[in-house]
Amino acid sequence: MIEDNLQQRIAEAIRNPKNMGELEAADAVGTVGNSQCGEMLRMWIKFKEENGRKVIDRATFQSFGCETAIAVASLATEMIRGKTAAEALSLSGEALSGDLGPLPPMKIHCSQLVEGALRSALEPSCAPAPSAATLDSSARSTNSNLLDNFTKPAQQPGGIRVVLLDPKQSK
Ligand code: FES
Repeated sequence: MIEDNLQQRIAEAIRNPKNMGELEAADAVGTVGNSQCGEMLRMWIKFKEENGRKVIDRATFQSFGCETAIAVASLATEMIRGKTAAEALSLSGEALSGDLGPLPPMKIHCSQLVEGALRSALEPSCAPAPSAATLDSSARSTNSNLLDNFTKPAQQPGGIRVVLLDPKQSK
């Protein structure tokens, strides 16, 4: 029954996902992948000045596949608007899941994927790095397409970092 309600909430969230797609002239971009399920998610973030604070004006995402990750990313990109980077970084995957409510154990890593993309964008040094892979530097372009970048081999140092989340941390 709880599972059914969750499925309903996820279905509602992805029926009209918010903030999906690339964000032109983004100030920060973060990409993470889960090597176990093969999901990948990229988040773009743009800041603005508001009352002397640098806050998130807009955040968007692209994701492959998983409905839960898409639903969480949709909610999370709405939730972090108006927050500073530090405030956004203080949100856990559970908090970012917002109205979806508690996720079952097998879906917790979906929200962690969103949290990881946020961390990778806002504070690359604090994202888990053991399996980090580097893509070519054209991936830095905020106009770059997620699929294009993932299918291109690494060619130059200094490209954006794709963080492969440790499956052990996803359980
Ligand atoms: Fe792996 Fe959702 S199933 S991110």
